[in-house]
Amino acid sequence: MPILMCPPTHYGVEYEINPWMHVATQVDRRLAWQQWEALLHTYRELGVEVVLADPVPGLPDMVFTANAGLTRGDRVVLSRFRHPERQREESRWRELFEGWGAPVCDTGDIAFEGAGDALFVGDTLVCGYGFRTDPEAIPLVARQLGVDTLAVELVDPRFYHLDTCLCPLDPGTILLAPAALSPESRERVRRLVPRVVEVPDGAAAGFACNAMAIGDVVVSSTAVEELRTPLRTAGYRVVGLPMSEFIKAGGGVRCLSLPVDGIGPQSVAAAATH
Ligand code: ARG
Repeated sequence: MPILMCPPTHYGVEYEINPWMHVATQVDRRLAWQQWEALLHTYRELGVEVVLADPVPGLPDMVFTANAGLTRGDRVVLSRFRHPERQREESRWRELFEGWGAPVCDTGDIAFEGAGDALFVGDTLVCGYGFRTDPEAIPLVARQLGVDTLAVELVDPRFYHLDTCLCPLDPGTILLAPAALSPESRERVRRLVPRVVEVPDGAAAGFACNAMAIGDVVVSSTAVEELRTPLRTAGYRVVGLPMSEFIKAGGGVRCLSLPVDGIGPQSVAAAATH
């Protein structure tokens, strides 16, 4: 499945909308580029096609493509961001997806932050709410994509998006930082997924859960190296990449990556030949 990324040309910490962001922090721009390119090369080496979005000046968080929307087959549900700072990205993402010829729907005025808060575990869409996405968005998205959902409540502000504390590795296995979910939601997740690889708080705070599974390789921040042993037992090897500059904005590997299922520039090309 291709992955959408956006170069960090205009990336920086220019506002504060999560506990990781401090405008006084300096982002090392050269290092940010190196870290982003290392991720791009890792994907390409693993045989993943990477599609690039055009970065836009004044939209520093566009680099976090996971929040552009959520795709399933050839459909896209566009994000409706909680904060005005990121709402300015919405028209850009709409243009991109519509340019690919994808049918784009949205949640109106109800906040929904795309794949950052909505992850498929097998065929079930697990949706996080509590910080960014409104719980009311979940039945709308379910209807628009025609999928079953499991709503989970996020309770730790450090893990404000679902993808900061939960990562599907395969239909029966996830990474999970359990304390990020309310006790009831934690139980619901455990009932859904037979194998939960628990991520200790320190590794989770290093964005270990913010990972992408490519076949049997878990690509994440360097904090994932702590999980080498349990992941080996689960049949995975790990690739840990330094993500320091993106963690300053509250993001890691997964936030920089949007899996785009059956859509992409190739769908435009395919449509043109029909
Ligand atoms: N600074 C961005 C925000 O607060 C980071 C987004 C991280 N994305 C993610 N999918 N967790 O919105």
